[in-house]
Amino acid sequence: MSKLAFIGGTGVYDPEILTDLHEEIIHTPYGDARIESGKFGAKAIIFLARHGVKHTIPPHKINYRANIYALKMLDVAAVVSTTAVGSMNPSYKPGELVLVDQFIDMTKNRIGTFFDGDRYGVAHYDMSHPYCETLRQAVQQAARAENILLHPHGTYICTEGPRFETAAEIKAYRMWGADVVGMTNVPECQLAREAEICYCTISMVTNFSTGMTDQPLTHAEVVACMKENQSSFRKIITLLATT
Ligand code: HPA
Repeated sequence: MSKLAFIGGTGVYDPEILTDLHEEIIHTPYGDARIESGKFGAKAIIFLARHGVKHTIPPHKINYRANIYALKMLDVAAVVSTTAVGSMNPSYKPGELVLVDQFIDMTKNRIGTFFDGDRYGVAHYDMSHPYCETLRQAVQQAARAENILLHPHGTYICTEGPRFETAAEIKAYRMWGADVVGMTNVPECQLAREAEICYCTISMVTNFSTGMTDQPLTHAEVVACMKENQSSFRKIITLLATT
């Protein structure tokens, strides 16, 4: 596989499978991106902690353009990202992985394009199938080889955050056909498309969505579930890095 990067979401901050790790700050026209370069065997791999290594950057303040631009500058051809999500599909349960294949964008205040009329002019492009099928196949193969339950389809609805959703919002999103909800896949996914980087996302269900249970949702619960089930990500990522 061509040069590969991992973008780690909530609970995935540590590229511990890599050796020769070093941090680099990449200066881009959109600001700086902090990445870690390392090796897996002889292969160069890049890791980017989306929220920062200490989870200090909230979803609506992530510099998505700098991150994707930096990966492009480093010649990255494929990105596998991880996200924590709430599930509104009763068949997708906490602790399980979903390889999302569609998204619905409910973000409000993010700059989501390189084609803003400036440096790269104006462009419109197809987004019917937002995730890279070749990479999705590779992830499914890795999950099968590791005996990890991975739901191969799912529609991700991306909210602005940082608050979680109201019960009425989740009710509406379910009617639209969404399966999982998170706060980061847009604009990351569309910027990768603009940069012609093959991109896919593995989502970890950390909770049932708000309004589907009687319990209020907390960030601590999301982080705890990610921590508990991290090994599934690690196994898939390790296999992908070797192939
Ligand atoms: N909503 C939004 N983002 C999330 C959730 C959720 O329920 N769980 C993990 N990230």
